[in-house]
Amino acid sequence: MKKRTLLLLLACSTITVYAQKGKKPQIKIKPRTEFVADLMSKMTLEEKIAQMVQFTADGTITGPKSGTNWVDEIKKGNVGSILNATGVDYTRKIQKMNLDNSRLKIPILFGYDVIHGYKTIFPITLGETASWDLELARKSAEIAAAESAAAGIHWTFAPMVDISRDPRWGRVSEGAGEDTYLGSKMAFARVKGFQGNNLNDLYTVLACTKHFAAYGAAEAGRDYNTVDMSERLLREVYLPPYKATVDAGVGSFMASFNEIAGVPSTGNKWLMNDLLKKEWGFNGFVVTDYTGMNEMIPHGYAKNEQHAGELALKAGIDMDMVGAIYLNDTKKNLQEGKVTMAQIDDACRRVLLAKYDLGLFEDPYRYNEEKREKATIYKKEYLDAALNAANKSMVLLKNSNNVLPLKQSQKVAFVGPLVSDEFNIIGSWAAAGDRNGYAVSVEEGVKHLVKDQSKVSFNKGVEIKDSKRTMMQAALDAAKNADVVVAVMGEFENQSGEAASQVNIDLPGIQKEFLAELKKLGKPVVLVLLNGRPLTLSWENDNMDAILEAWFPGTMGGDAIAQTLYGVNNPSGKLPMTFPRSVGQVPIYYNHKNTGRPYLGTNDPEQKYKSRYTDSENSPLYAFGYGLSYTKFEYSNLKLSSNKLSGSNKITVTVDVKNTGNYDGEEVVQLYVHDVVGSVTRPVKELKGFTKQLIKKGETKTVTFDISADDLRFYNIDMKFVAEPGDFEVFVGGSSDATLKATFELVK
Ligand code: BGC
Repeated sequence: MKKRTLLLLLACSTITVYAQKGKKPQIKIKPRTEFVADLMSKMTLEEKIAQMVQFTADGTITGPKSGTNWVDEIKKGNVGSILNATGVDYTRKIQKMNLDNSRLKIPILFGYDVIHGYKTIFPITLGETASWDLELARKSAEIAAAESAAAGIHWTFAPMVDISRDPRWGRVSEGAGEDTYLGSKMAFARVKGFQGNNLNDLYTVLACTKHFAAYGAAEAGRDYNTVDMSERLLREVYLPPYKATVDAGVGSFMASFNEIAGVPSTGNKWLMNDLLKKEWGFNGFVVTDYTGMNEMIPHGYAKNEQHAGELALKAGIDMDMVGAIYLNDTKKNLQEGKVTMAQIDDACRRVLLAKYDLGLFEDPYRYNEEKREKATIYKKEYLDAALNAANKSMVLLKNSNNVLPLKQSQKVAFVGPLVSDEFNIIGSWAAAGDRNGYAVSVEEGVKHLVKDQSKVSFNKGVEIKDSKRTMMQAALDAAKNADVVVAVMGEFENQSGEAASQVNIDLPGIQKEFLAELKKLGKPVVLVLLNGRPLTLSWENDNMDAILEAWFPGTMGGDAIAQTLYGVNNPSGKLPMTFPRSVGQVPIYYNHKNTGRPYLGTNDPEQKYKSRYTDSENSPLYAFGYGLSYTKFEYSNLKLSSNKLSGSNKITVTVDVKNTGNYDGEEVVQLYVHDVVGSVTRPVKELKGFTKQLIKKGETKTVTFDISADDLRFYNIDMKFVAEPGDFEVFVGGSSDATLKATFELVK
């Protein structure tokens, strides 16, 4: 944390001089299409192909190696884009090397994974989504854009909008969870945050929607694995968040590694050309994922690299990330008549337009200003926003006997492997994020807040994964002398993210054993979790007094956790993904179908021939949308303005939400709809609206939602996107378990 304070001071001293937000360079150039057409008329075939080529700068390898030397290729004028180069100094050097060798002085486009912050790290995306706060998500993307653009980056590989119903898949941490509606809203907000209103602004970056498509549906939750599903499920559940980013004006897309119904996305003409570019009207460019083009060979879809290049270009892939296939094989493919000049021109044009929009032709070094970089990174207001985001992402899963919030007068033993951690707390995919020495640990956060330091102690007790017991006794001794025990536990940051699938999603190592020892002391035990995916917490739920899901909360995470534990922040987060009782229930999600033999629970007179497990309940441990507060909310008076909906009319739904507890608090009020009978069966519930409301202690708020026929549309038996007349149920409440119900009929 100390180094960051120093940087902050440096930043503050230069801030006024360089606060030139959005200032445009003075050079006047032609309108975009004219400019790019002019430029392309001067370009050779090789120069056009170069625009379709991306290499990685520092050799970060997350896939098979291409064996190509990126520096040599830049010197030959063969590279249009570089990833994994950061900082104004380094990117300037690379840009200069490129411009010195580029006949037409076409700037390089610098891309980077700015996923949940650049230097000021926000909660992992899944955690941030638990805020259900769209403005917060937009803002954090805006800040990530400002910091990274000030550090020479033009393009972020975010947002990741893959819907996933499988917590075994490590990449759930990077996305918005399981729900299409919430995921689409978040996706839209994040693109707006990254790109702002104008890509020419010096503090915005080009966004990249990934991974197109349905990457989150990998079979068995194993990364990169096969996806197969009906077009209806694809269109209804998985595609809308990608489409939402097109509506938000996203400038680029990334193809996913997986195949869908036998066709790898990188070679999927239907997906890229027909759906994305034609049906949705996407005007930006599409990049492969890391060596995704080469991977069509082991997929069994391309014979060799040249063939892969042909399939990708025909499918509508505009840029080859790292694979070197476009560089090596495009000319040959053209000469042999396998691809057309029009296809090459289209790819090149799309990339050049993005460079134009970013202002790179006006000044290729416009994002390379040392003083702006220093003034922008770790601004106080950014750290405050990160703290706010972390606070809002906390989900209180259990709180027996109001053990939380803690009181300043209580003696508290803080224990657990992550209690003093400054490394894992910022989470995975915090590529440029500073860890040790920068991030606020829980210990630091508590020390910032607690007035009498003699009331608190900090002992790890155990490690995250290994089974050493040497530190356990000291922690137990401290716990014995305390009024309350807080165990800060969870996963390594790299247990989630890419290539981090697991078949076991319990708390790792001997953490549970340590919790059992703590419980034996007879003191209330609070479990604080730092993790990147839903975990199986049945034992913890039965045995702990309180559980706070803190995700990986980012740079200011320790302060947010302390503020939440001590009641400075009243938790208001709601789960964006279902937490199963056991991994055997996966995939598990709230908006499932009913089956012909729905199980009605332990009161069901028929226990045998029902759609159920014989060794577990069907229900999850914690449902989608669930999360407690230090106060209580009561829902009543659910009313519809009419019990018939027709034409372009709307039904207004009203509900009273009363804060009956002892604290002011925020509640995410959720609206679900069930289409009772359809030409194809419909889910038992679907989220159709939500609003986050601050409700004061004792106050009742009347919350309203509108429902129109448009909200009820789905892909019917003829694959037409329509609302079908018939009966609908409406549920409103504080989670997907909402039972308060009203009904209406959609009439023709
Ligand atoms: C990941 C992408 C990422 C890319 C570039 C890949 O391995 O799947 O999400 O943007 O690498 O780092």
